[in-house]
Amino acid sequence: MAGSTIGELFRVTTFGESHTSAGVGAIVDGCPAGIPLSEEDIQPDLDRRRPGQSRLTTQRKESDEVTIQSGVFRGETTGAPISLFIPNTDARPGAYEKFKDSYRPSHADYTYEAKYGVRDYHGGARASARATAADTAAGAIAKLIVPQVSFTAYVKQIYDIVADIPDDVTHDLVESSEVRCPDPFATERMVALIDLIKRRRDSVGGIIEMRISNVPPGLGEPAFDKYDADLAKAIKGIPAVKAVEFGLGFAAVRLLGSQHNDPFYMEGDRVRTRTNNSGGVQGGITNGEDVVLRAAIKPTPTIAHEQETVTNTGESTTVSGTGRHDVCVLPRAVPIFEARAAIITADHFLRNRSARI
Ligand SMILES: Cc1cc2nc3c(=O)[nH]c(=O)nc-3n(C[C@H](O)[C@H](O)[C@H](O)COP(=O)(O)O)c2cc1C
Repeated sequence: MAGSTIGELFRVTTFGESHTSAGVGAIVDGCPAGIPLSEEDIQPDLDRRRPGQSRLTTQRKESDEVTIQSGVFRGETTGAPISLFIPNTDARPGAYEKFKDSYRPSHADYTYEAKYGVRDYHGGARASARATAADTAAGAIAKLIVPQVSFTAYVKQIYDIVADIPDDVTHDLVESSEVRCPDPFATERMVALIDLIKRRRDSVGGIIEMRISNVPPGLGEPAFDKYDADLAKAIKGIPAVKAVEFGLGFAAVRLLGSQHNDPFYMEGDRVRTRTNNSGGVQGGITNGEDVVLRAAIKPTPTIAHEQETVTNTGESTTVSGTGRHDVCVLPRAVPIFEARAAIITADHFLRNRSARI
């Protein structure tokens, strides 16, 4: 199974399955030497992603305690590969027997079996969001390479409830919300909606927005390794993400060039733009304004409703989900967005050697 590695110079390879492996983890290669690093630098981000944080998320109880198994000497990175491991402590593979022969609609069951001919049907295995604990741990290391950059993701919309996002959104404000939405009024409505959807044994999706601030101008490589293209790939790779847009995104088609262009001006010796419809990236290279992206996330596929499906021998049947599932995955996806963005940003920061100096 190829495709478990991301990054060129800061290179992260993840491994592990949801229920049947001893745990999940990552090998982080290309991290510069001399960066102070311990488990305490990583654990807070894992605590924000882990299941069982609130009654609104899956009730799987994982402590997600990370250990650093290589690449650190006397509290500092050595430049050698850093190995991170997070054990599975609350795996219940038995809960997934009913998916052994039947494919859950819109999960990865059919496509994995069609491709590999063998499928670990326990909780989605590699397709499970459990694998993103490894990205989240690696992302915490990436953040230490670009400490000046801040990554702030938050829930902007759940179903038809759209939040009013303040210009000065902070991590504290996001974390004060049970659904990681920095609008207290929208939070109340979102919580009530998720409760209702949960009672109806259904699921719901929405939009996560992310602002990346203090990104230096000049990150990104033309033509195939544009900063926004790499970021889009990393974010689209998060399970359940169906679309990614930057700046005004799809709304740009309803503007004329004279309305959409971001006029330049000087702020001291810094080139700035009056508006940020581009979302901080032009020609695939960061311009120093906030990088702003939004991603659409679908409703969780495993639901308790009976749904039409087929078995792996081609018979028509129905399937309904049991076990512990997120009714709405967005609150737990927020730290995964920040981690993957940090990995891409740290990688481009280290790659930025062809720039004029
Ligand atoms: C944080 C998070 C938690 C998730 N939890 C569940 C879950 O409990 N049940 C489920 O069926 N899918 C869950 N998903 C989504 C599936 O992993 C995903 O839909 C599936 O792998 C198919 O991939 P795709 O939706 O990208 O096509 C979760 C996704 C994220 C980001």
